[in-house]
Amino acid sequence: MNYNKKTVRDVDVQGKKVLLRCDFNVPLAKDGSGVITDDKRIRAALPTIQYLLDQNAAVIACSHLGKPAATFESYAKKQAEKGKEATEESWKKSLKALSLAPVAKRLSELLGRPVIMAQDVVGPDAQAKAAALKPGEILLLENTRFEKGETKNDPELAKAMASMAEVYVSDAFGAVHRAHASTAGVADYLPAVSGFLIQKELEIIGGALANPKRPLVAILGGSKVSSKIGVINNLLEIADTIIIGGGMAYTFSAAQGGKVGESLLEADWESYANEMVEKAAAKGVKLLLPVDAVCADAFAPDAKSQVVKAGEIPDGWQGLDIGPETVKLYCDAVQGAGTVIWNGPMGVFEFPAFAKGTEAVAEALSKTSAITIIGGGDSAAAVQQLGYADKMTHISTGGGASLEFMEGKELPGVACLLDA
Ligand code: 3PG
Repeated sequence: MNYNKKTVRDVDVQGKKVLLRCDFNVPLAKDGSGVITDDKRIRAALPTIQYLLDQNAAVIACSHLGKPAATFESYAKKQAEKGKEATEESWKKSLKALSLAPVAKRLSELLGRPVIMAQDVVGPDAQAKAAALKPGEILLLENTRFEKGETKNDPELAKAMASMAEVYVSDAFGAVHRAHASTAGVADYLPAVSGFLIQKELEIIGGALANPKRPLVAILGGSKVSSKIGVINNLLEIADTIIIGGGMAYTFSAAQGGKVGESLLEADWESYANEMVEKAAAKGVKLLLPVDAVCADAFAPDAKSQVVKAGEIPDGWQGLDIGPETVKLYCDAVQGAGTVIWNGPMGVFEFPAFAKGTEAVAEALSKTSAITIIGGGDSAAAVQQLGYADKMTHISTGGGASLEFMEGKELPGVACLLDA
């Protein structure tokens, strides 16, 4: 895939209406109060928004938020699956809970200027407000997933969105793996370029994948081998060293005949794990697996724990973190790296007693002079939670998107942009 895309600096946006796709899929308080519990994604969009406003563009921003049911039928189906009844009223309430109104409010506070909020996406209110929008003003459309055509990449919806603007700028890195009307479809009808956030993600992650400063060390954790196969496979072609941690390490251990007790295990993936070990050996990629584990007698923060050798987890016990010998091995492997890509925690870091492996890796990364790239999702959360965020070269704003990027997959929201 070509990562070299035109950016907002390569097109004339002076006085123009610009449709700007952001990823404002922010976490909201569970109580339905609409309180945004983390505004990082809104902040990440500010440089592009500010640039467009400084260029006197009229900015029509849009985003999805959550996974709303766009029709009553789809809502009723989802409710029925949960054994719950659906009413028009409860459906409308579910949509209201995913309105972008709280985002408009927060964005306005951060920009220090009004953000006009549309009541719909391409309906009469959005059309009227977009038509009346003046250069230097910003309008936020309602949640794009309130339109049933959004996730289907419906050309009619894409056309209707595009009709409000003259240029399309995408800065929604977190959603570039989605071929939706607002992330890809609109690019069929408008000159399409990237904002600064996508530009940065492409330059740093794309650069590390295409032409890494070596040695390239990839640290892969998380619970399931099945969700990381694509990444392991792709990185086996690129990396010099691959480090495996987290729950998925137990599938590798079991595949090699180890005892894993009650640890997380994907038995169906054992032969695949062995294949990966063989492939690494054939390619001369160093594949590091845990040599010890911290195991617990229950999946609980206050469970009894002990350190055992990898492959020797007693019955009734489960591995919840990498052990001290493994920590040393992995931290040593990071020293001297040119680039480190990290995706997925080393253990159950939500429980302080089982967070040491993840903490140690984060600390090692914070001290290395290597380019350090943290995939979105759990590892990004861990680095932030541990206070090392500003020590990393780059923390991706995309969870699924950064994973698919590292899998080497084509990203529809990037492929649709004009080549530089
Ligand atoms: C994310 O949160 O990873 C992005 O906003 C994409 O959201 P989605 O998984 O609902 O498409």
